[in-house]
Order: sequence, then structure tokens, then C-alpha cells
Amino acid sequence: MEMLPEIVNRRSIRAYTPEEVERAVLDRIVEAGRRAPSAKNRQAWRFVVITNRETRLKLQEACFGQEYIGEAAAVFALCTTNVEYKMPNDQYSHPVDIGIASAFMMLQAEHEKLGCCAVTTFNEPDVKSILSIPYKMRVVMLLTVGRPAEVPEPTERLPRERIVGYEHW
Ligand SMILES: Cc1cc2nc3c(=O)[nH]c(=O)nc-3n(C[C@H](O)[C@H](O)[C@H](O)COP(=O)(O)O)c2cc1C
Repeated sequence: MEMLPEIVNRRSIRAYTPEEVERAVLDRIVEAGRRAPSAKNRQAWRFVVITNRETRLKLQEACFGQEYIGEAAAVFALCTTNVEYKMPNDQYSHPVDIGIASAFMMLQAEHEKLGCCAVTTFNEPDVKSILSIPYKMRVVMLLTVGRPAEVPEPTERLPRERIVGYEHW
């Protein structure tokens, strides 16, 4: 089955080399998020890009000491600026919006031959304090980005017949 190579090759990377990532590359990853669709095109998000090593090490602590957070050349904090907006289906839009933006960013990172990992294992008040994120804003996800030090085997997926229904459930 012919698929986008970025979709097929992407893995969650949890070990990075110390190599820095150029600002232009980080900007393209931000741009991928900026171009993502969002409910009613509200774009109720802000992406905070952290490359400073000291700050990354503080974020590592806020992520319960997971070392790859401090190792990664950059950490993106994907924040929502509105947690109250509900879509017509009575569900909150921000996890969906940020989820889609993060997927665009992950695929751009893969296209740049970088590794990345979505991270939700963090203490949000600590992350907010480290990054001076205002009271009403929420950090939905962190995304580590850097040169992979190792590329793991692909993880398993459920078989197609388990997860798809055509025409009905
Ligand atoms: C919403 C979300 C939250 C995640 N949180 C974490 C996390 O806190 N720590 C971590 O190591 N991986 C995290 N991951 C990565 C998943 O564990 C990973 O995507 C999954 O095991 C499939 O592996 P793959 O990405 O290599 O295909 C998260 C992924 C998603 C989509």
C-alpha cells in the first residue's frame, strides 16, 4: 500500500544526539502547526519553542526526570489559549485542535529527518511556571524534537479489520 514515507517511517524517539537543530528547521515545524486545521479556524493555540539547555533540564524535571526531554535539541510546548470552546458536537475543541497541529508538526519533523515524541507525562503547573505561561492557558502536549540517537522498531498497530467499518459500525 503506497503511503506517505513520513507516516510510515515516523517513530516516537526517546534518545537524541547533542546536535543542535537549525532555527529555520524549527520554524518549518512551527509553520506545519500553524497551517493545521482547527475547529471554526479559531487557531486557539500558542506554540512555545524551547532550545535553551537550562530550561530543557528544568522541563525534564517537570516531566518526572525523563532524560530524553533534556537531551532533545528542542521542546515544543503546544498550548491552548481557550479551554472553554465546544464544537457543535458538544465536545471540547482544544484537544482535537492541538492533536491535529501536533500531528502536522511530527510529520514535518520526520520530513526534516528529525525524531520527535509527543509527551503528556508532565506536571502542568510546573511546566507553566518554567515557561511563564499565563494562568488561563493550558499546556496540552510537549513535543521533543532532535536528531535521533537510536531508531526503535515500529510499534504494532491493530489489524485494519479491527478498527474500520465501512458503511456501518
Ligand atoms: C497523546 C499522546 C501522548 C503521549 N504521551 C507520551 C508520554 O508522555 N511519554 C512517552 O514516552 N510517549 C508518549 N506518547 C508516545 C506514544 O507512546 C507512542 O506514540 C505510541 O506508543 C506509538 O509508538 P510510535 O509513536 O513509535 O508509533 C504519546 C503519544 C500521544 C499520541
